[in-house]
Amino acid sequence: MRRNSGRSSVWNFLRVTAVVFAASSLLLVASDNAPERVPSYVSWSQETLAAASAGDAFRGMLLAKRCDHCHGSEGFSATGSTPNLADMDELAIWKELEDFRSHKRISRAMEPIAESLSSRDVADVVAYYSKLPVYTDPQDNRNFPGSRPGPGHAAIASHLVAFGDGERGIPPCQSCHGPVAYRPGVPSLMTQNSEYVLSQLEAFANRSRANDINMPMRTISTLLTEDERHALAEYYGSGLGLQPGSSR
Ligand code: HEC
Ligand code: HEC
Repeated sequence: MRRNSGRSSVWNFLRVTAVVFAASSLLLVASDNAPERVPSYVSWSQETLAAASAGDAFRGMLLAKRCDHCHGSEGFSATGSTPNLADMDELAIWKELEDFRSHKRISRAMEPIAESLSSRDVADVVAYYSKLPVYTDPQDNRNFPGSRPGPGHAAIASHLVAFGDGERGIPPCQSCHGPVAYRPGVPSLMTQNSEYVLSQLEAFANRSRANDINMPMRTISTLLTEDERHALAEYYGSGLGLQPGSSR
């Protein structure tokens, strides 16, 4: 048998290296996308719907003492970057807590807190927060409602909320987030803080939040311009969403 010449073994070495390099970059791409392939371990079945709505609100109220410090004793937080939980849909709160527990949604503050709750605790705090009423309380140190957007931003946002933008394939926000229609597990935005709404639109757009099943929000946020994201955050954060159709 003829021995390989020095030249062909260099060639073979290069070929093998190229194959290994290509295979490993494919693997890297795959692992990069790994969190996006399974956005959440939650799926809406009879079982999960029942689990999310089986809580004991009184026990939840006692557990919520651990949450008050950040989310406010009335479910309205003092800091704009922390979400308000009062009156939020129970399936939505339940899903978010489950996603923090399974690290499908990343938050340095919330992952350890959610992990410290048992399944029963989760159902109980869900029952409590979803029943907290939305009313104004001048004594409460809350961030909501923030200041009204200027007329330009109000018009941009109210149009997207009510009609979306057919040309770009953006459905109206109110067709999933209410008040026109609610999809299971979709949080209401009507009493949400502006800073938090903006941070979540940015997180979906840059994929640091990727727990939306079928990725409606990753898609929509990417289609929105930076200016539109600001306009929408100001719109919801100022309470304009409580008066559908209003842009002033
Ligand atoms: C140290 C402050 C802190 C404490 C204590 C805390 N949270 Fe949070 N929570 C946050 C922050 C900040 C976020 C937003 C995370 C992000 O930016 O993604 C959040 C997000 C959430 C969300 C998601 C809401 C949404 O609109 O998607 C839920 C639900 C929640 N917290 C429930 C709780 C519950 C229940 C407790 C108590 C058992 C609790 N939190 C305690 C800071 C806190
Ligand atoms: C097709 C349905 C759909 C439409 C239309 C839609 N959303 Fe969403 N949105 C969702 C779902 C589902 C979630 C919850 C994702 C998850 O599971 O955490 C969500 C979550 C959000 C959140 C995070 C809320 C929170 O409490 O953490 C924001 C902010 C948001 N959407 C803003 C918007 C805005 C602004 C529009 C309009 C431009 C819009 N969405 C249109 C389905 C939709």
